[in-house]
Amino acid sequence: MSRPDLLLAFDDEARPAGALAAQLGVPWALVQRHRFPDGELRLRLPPQLPPRIVILRGLHQPNEKLVELLIAAPAARELGAREITLVCPYLAYMRQDIAFHPGEAVSQRHVAGLIARSVDALVTVDPHLHRIASLDEVMPGCRACALSASTALGDWVARHVDRPLLLGPDEESAQWVSEAAREHRLDHAVCHKQRLGDHEVQVSLPEVNLRGRAVVLIDDVASTGRTLVEACQACLASGAASVDVAVTHALFVGTALEALHAAGARQVWSTDSVPHVTNAVPLASLLALAVRDL
Ligand code: R5P
Repeated sequence: MSRPDLLLAFDDEARPAGALAAQLGVPWALVQRHRFPDGELRLRLPPQLPPRIVILRGLHQPNEKLVELLIAAPAARELGAREITLVCPYLAYMRQDIAFHPGEAVSQRHVAGLIARSVDALVTVDPHLHRIASLDEVMPGCRACALSASTALGDWVARHVDRPLLLGPDEESAQWVSEAAREHRLDHAVCHKQRLGDHEVQVSLPEVNLRGRAVVLIDDVASTGRTLVEACQACLASGAASVDVAVTHALFVGTALEALHAAGARQVWSTDSVPHVTNAVPLASLLALAVRDL
């Protein structure tokens, strides 16, 4: 996108919106939200919008925010926007990328399709792409740019942990772990995970000597935190000297973060793709570069 004219954001993302607008060198404005007693939403946008806008909307608490986005984007067009780039640091519904059981909706395809019909371009970070190679496969007609925070996380870890061993909790995390390890040539490996239910996973460690090592668990998403809890406990039981955690998307539902510390995790770091107390690695400059390059 040539330089956008305006960034639109929502009040719960005012801090990252300010940071992104500063990086882009554009003004920003808030979409005002009113929630009616029955739960319906009324959105109010600036009444006249310039032609090229960026909408910042992360999709943690996905159902509510998807509806906001699906109302805000067409409303923005009615108010003058001709080209809309969505910056969605956390793109929800990406994990259901296959019908695991007969009849299951492949949410990834349908949610991505809805978004593709609403905006012209998308910038996101570490979408959970496991069985598809690129977002283009599920977002026809929308220019999609999937960034990775792995290098930034690896850089953060290298500056804060002496001779770390990066460990992914499952095979899917190999893509993020190897990327995080690359620049500083950090030791790395991945575990094997079996998910038995929403809150139940089993993690088996790779054949790597963890005794005395400073392990850093790297993953894209922490949701219930069970994956990280299991991996953390297994590492400590195998003699790891310490276990820290670095994730891109800090969903950490309920008491997940407390459980992770109770399991023995020392430091827990995340990017600011999802506003959370563990945020340590800001993404604004990466996102702004991608918006300009689209
Ligand atoms: C799944 O494959 C992801 O990479 C994460 O490992 C997973 O979503 C974490 O979920 P939870 O925190 O609920 O174990």
